[in-house]
Amino acid sequence: MIDPHDEKKLIKTVTSLITLLMLVILTLISIVFWMIFGSKNDSFSELEIQEIATVAVSIPSMDESTDLWTAPSISEIPEGEQGELIKYGKDLVAKTTEYFGPNGSVAHLSNGLNCQNCHLDAGTKVWGNNYGSVAATYPKMRGRSGQVEGVFKRISDCFERSLNGTAPDSNSREMKAMAAYIKWVGKAVVKGQKAKGSGIFNIAFLDRPADPKQGKEVYDAKCAVCHQADGQGQLNDVGNNYTYPPLWGKLSYNKGAGLYRLSRFAGYVKANMPLGASYNAPQLTDEEAWDVAAYVNTQDRPSLDLSKDWPDISKKKIDHPFGPYVDPYSESQHKFGPFTEIQSFYDELKKSKS
Ligand code: HEC
Ligand code: HEC
Repeated sequence: MIDPHDEKKLIKTVTSLITLLMLVILTLISIVFWMIFGSKNDSFSELEIQEIATVAVSIPSMDESTDLWTAPSISEIPEGEQGELIKYGKDLVAKTTEYFGPNGSVAHLSNGLNCQNCHLDAGTKVWGNNYGSVAATYPKMRGRSGQVEGVFKRISDCFERSLNGTAPDSNSREMKAMAAYIKWVGKAVVKGQKAKGSGIFNIAFLDRPADPKQGKEVYDAKCAVCHQADGQGQLNDVGNNYTYPPLWGKLSYNKGAGLYRLSRFAGYVKANMPLGASYNAPQLTDEEAWDVAAYVNTQDRPSLDLSKDWPDISKKKIDHPFGPYVDPYSESQHKFGPFTEIQSFYDELKKSKS
């Protein structure tokens, strides 16, 4: 005979054991669920998925050169006053908006972009619109202004166009710091030479006009996840800097900026976008790069008075989309291409002059 008291005890033990077992199973199921679905909710794993998805299309390296420029190491920044200036300059390039943006600590001069948004890794990434050749090639004559420009003037240009704002005073410690940093980045390049891998890669022309319609498809599939469907980007949680910068609209670069030229935009994104792409692991075909450039650069953005630009119109870049020109091609062809015949026109012109 089992004592009824013992029986009750036994039932109680078995029930607790079953409850415990169910709890363990439930926990395991939740862990598995979280691993499969839960982590997708944060944007970081969205980034990883995006990168994996696009890497799968194998696109050959853009540049097989073995002697590409590389930036000096941060450990080479000298000690002392000059070193402090260079380091301050690097910080200004990386976090420009925290100093000069709408809530900037030094002044309110710019649209909220950082130099680094376009000059990647503080202007040190190979084919990432880096500053490699600036120290070696400035001061130089520039057709856009018709003047010999030094580094200060060139930095001011980006403040006025890419940052759609005003440049800090050339006597300010901030201007001196940015110039010191930019010159330090390019210190190893021989004076007068342009280093391979510096600036923006010139991607091959298409034999048709770039197409904004096809570009929208590229944009929605490969860019909107970060820059947003409306192109307005995304601020960080604090709201003082962009996690994903805007590509058009009133807070983007204006129509006088370098990226408004299709070849600059296409060459920049081909070697750098979607984020994670590089010249040796590009993620866009040439056609996708040109088409997405055409789409982004037909959206609304701020204007700029360009009437003083290109005092000698024969010096206009072939993809400068505003006439008049010395060649017979339309503004539309200068904006979207095809560019080969325009390029040939200027090659011939140069030959006939020399
Ligand atoms: C919206 C993108 C963008 C932003 C933001 C931007 N730039 Fe630029 N910058 C460009 C482009 C495009 C060029 C021209 C590259 C070319 O023609 O190959 C350029 C060129 C330059 C050059 C000349 C490079 C050379 O080799 O001739 C300097 C110097 C420069 N920028 C400095 C700055 C500084 C400093 C800032 C921040 C205050 C800044 N830029 C912000 C896009 C940008
Ligand atoms: C995974 C997120 C991500 C994707 C996808 C992505 N970008 Fe970006 N993009 C960024 C970030 C972040 C920056 C700024 C980089 C920095 O500051 O280091 C940037 C910068 C840019 C810039 C220069 C800054 C500006 O605001 O003008 C352009 C142009 C650009 N991206 C175009 C594109 C295009 C075109 C695509 C699609 C082919 C694309 N990006 C896809 C994250 C992304």
